[in-house]
Amino acid sequence: MTSPYASPFLLSLLLLLSIPVVFLLAPRLLPPKTLPAIPDADESDDLALFRRAILSSSSATPTPPTSAASYFFRRRPAPKIAFLFLTNSDLVFSPLWEKFFRGHTHQFNLYVHADPYSFLELPPTPSFRGRFVPAKATQRASPTLISAARRLLATALLDDPNNQFFALLSQSCIPLHPFPTLYNALLSDNAGPHSRHRSFIEIMDNMDNDTKLLHDRYYARGDDVMLPEVPYDQFRAGSQFFVLTRRHAIMVVRDMRLWKKFKLPCLIERRDSCYPEEHYFPTLLDMQDPEGCTKYTLTRVNWTDSVAGHPHMYGPGEVSASLIRELRKSNMTHSYMFARKFSPECLEPLMEIADSVILRD
Ligand SMILES: *[C@@H]1O[C@H](CO)[C@@H](O)[C@H](O)[C@H]1NC(C)=O
Ligand SMILES: *[C@@H]1O[C@H](CO)[C@@H](O)[C@H](O)[C@H]1NC(C)=O
Ligand SMILES: *[C@@H]1O[C@H](CO)[C@@H](O)[C@H](O)[C@H]1NC(C)=O
Repeated sequence: MTSPYASPFLLSLLLLLSIPVVFLLAPRLLPPKTLPAIPDADESDDLALFRRAILSSSSATPTPPTSAASYFFRRRPAPKIAFLFLTNSDLVFSPLWEKFFRGHTHQFNLYVHADPYSFLELPPTPSFRGRFVPAKATQRASPTLISAARRLLATALLDDPNNQFFALLSQSCIPLHPFPTLYNALLSDNAGPHSRHRSFIEIMDNMDNDTKLLHDRYYARGDDVMLPEVPYDQFRAGSQFFVLTRRHAIMVVRDMRLWKKFKLPCLIERRDSCYPEEHYFPTLLDMQDPEGCTKYTLTRVNWTDSVAGHPHMYGPGEVSASLIRELRKSNMTHSYMFARKFSPECLEPLMEIADSVILRD
């Protein structure tokens, strides 16, 4: 019964119908060209948090006097350092940090962003208890590390108007000096415009004197995608670990212009050049307030013989008084205040020299 002419007609019809199907499915069938993007839900949560932080910071006058006595003396509360720990594993050095913080309760706050997909043992020490902020997933080679740092900054801005400095650290960081040495170094630096405090953040316009390296980092997200917001000659590199002033913390949380570009996922074939967290902060601050930055970091790291973007990790056999003294040495105005990376097994030898070396100048 079937006409011989029906089948070519049916075939063409099928082909015609299949065109939209191909278009719909193609993006799913073709291998992705980029690494995963930041989920929209995470982005909108962050935006809401950042808005609240900006709003509260613009209305925040330094804590108004609450009693007649404090009104009379008009005492301004001591500025505080907010320590921001960005981690995806146990905070094994918390006992060492606890010693570092002891006796300075009114001069610091602490915040921890722990990747919710890593199952951390809660640090046994009181300073870290209850200091975990709402966190989201973080991965290497993705802008999620920038998001996590901005989330920490926003949370600390909102939490306490006396947080005046914001020190970003990781679980493998250790202190190299007693708390007062750090505190005095940050507060005594008034070399910024209008005698303001400065941020301690590395800002470089080349990497290891290798222009190709910086070039590859700039193009990691694709050709020309950074324009017009981020021209190549304004693209900077620096350490992911820094100490920002409150003014700069607000600047970072407020930024939407550069973030629009830095949040783009890297192309898969360029993932080896994908370290957005080492570029976003130095680029932004160098564009907006270069004179307000020291352009060097207070966190020592040893890049000798680095493997796959990981610096040298000190083992317990390397921990000694002379290592600590060596790591403090800097060619800048201030000596190094923190160092990374130390393996978890270093806790014991570090604790042995904590009082006699690390927390003594
Ligand atoms: C950096 O490169 C410049 C120009 O190629 C060269 O003159 C200089 O010696 C290099 N510096 C270092 C530390 O390698
Ligand atoms: C840096 O790491 C290398 C090994 O990668 C080591 O030989 C050297 O002593 C370290 N430098 C310092 C200052 O610790
Ligand atoms: C300080 O500068 C000297 C000479 O350029 C260099 O050999 C040394 O490694 C530098 N030290 C640090 C801690 O960067």
